[in-house]
Amino acid sequence: MAFSLSKPITISLSPNTFGPDVLRAWVSLFKFWKWKDTRVASQLERRFGAYHGDSQAVSFDSGRSSWQAILLALGVSSGDEVLLQAYTCVVVANPILWAGATPVYVDIDTGTYNMDLIDLERKITRRSKVLLIQHTFGLMADMNEVIKIACRHGLTVVEDCAHALGAERLNGKGTWQKAGTFGDAAFFSFGRDKVISSVYGGMALTGDPRLAARLQTYQSSLSLPSRRWIVQQLLHPILFSLIVPLYFTGSLGKLLLVACQKIGLLSKAVYPCEKQGKQHASMPRRYPDALASLASAQFAHLDRFNERRSQIALLYRREFVSLWPESLPSEVEGTRSAHLRFTMQTSDPQMILASARKQHMLLGDWYQQPLAPGGVGYGAVGYAPGSCPVAEVAAMRTINLPTYPRLSDRDVQKVIDFMKKEFKP
Ligand SMILES: Cc1ncc(COP(=O)(O)O)c(C=O)c1O
Repeated sequence: MAFSLSKPITISLSPNTFGPDVLRAWVSLFKFWKWKDTRVASQLERRFGAYHGDSQAVSFDSGRSSWQAILLALGVSSGDEVLLQAYTCVVVANPILWAGATPVYVDIDTGTYNMDLIDLERKITRRSKVLLIQHTFGLMADMNEVIKIACRHGLTVVEDCAHALGAERLNGKGTWQKAGTFGDAAFFSFGRDKVISSVYGGMALTGDPRLAARLQTYQSSLSLPSRRWIVQQLLHPILFSLIVPLYFTGSLGKLLLVACQKIGLLSKAVYPCEKQGKQHASMPRRYPDALASLASAQFAHLDRFNERRSQIALLYRREFVSLWPESLPSEVEGTRSAHLRFTMQTSDPQMILASARKQHMLLGDWYQQPLAPGGVGYGAVGYAPGSCPVAEVAAMRTINLPTYPRLSDRDVQKVIDFMKKEFKP
């Protein structure tokens, strides 16, 4: 029999938002004269750089814009190839196309959901210029091996840390090193369901002063987002504080969500044109203080957030490891994951997601396509179906369990009880 939960568990509906974040969004909304300042964004850049061992951080309106900035700063252009993994979001492939370069998709390793380094070596050509390494769901790729391969082939390494802020890996010297500091550059996302969140926002990071200077020059050439766009993002935590509690009250919350998106009060994480390889007119832009103030407050809690995510992931692993060892993500020695989501493999993801919904739980579906979300034009973004078979099979078998820090122990137990009842490997 279905049980009902007082507070819905929702992996994607603004999961990072605590009460004070909603209040902060209200305050920011009223302080309209400060929206387009960049003082808080600059402070965040300095703190972010220091957190990453004195690297230089340059902020943008999103992770995808930060990636676009890095490609431009590296001089990537027509004729170049950029290697990236399948089992990612389409917004990662797009900036490569906009730079005039060719995305070359590499298959993944099933256990870690990170790039398969054997397939990588097969796909490197004389035109390969940049290697983008994604730390999927916060588990760091084998950067020691990646750097060796990149050196052999003269590739520039960029780390996609959209899921991995605060993750670490033991380096060749046996010391812990943060995601984003192994390669030549990295980018991070402060998107609505990332490790920390300001609905939209991102950071480019590099230890190379010349690259940093080019990123800063590019940043200064951009304008700030429109006031309308800023309001739309600030309304996100505010409206979701109403939508989430109502989500399973009949269809009230869901109707409210759809209505707010339809009339443009809420933005979407991926714009429809981006699914066809096109750039949305609102990007790229500088990162306004209106949003930087939200990310800045969350950044202060980053280590505590990641500790809580690790605890939750450990609870899932302990409960499930003897039941379904083949369905769990790999544990990799010498890594400290950011555990953005706990991903499992099942023969029937749709059934699990649907029965979870009946029990007032929204589990995750990242990534149910080799290039997510649904509706991506593979031709438009240069993906040949069949070229990354492991990623394609993994995508058909994926569900994610929530690890967001707002989950209580009771919530986690509810997820575990549900899985024990409904999960099929
Ligand atoms: C792996 C990965 N990289 C990069 C991005 C882009 O980040 P943003 O949404 O901030 O542009 C995403 C977005 O979902 C992502 O999943």
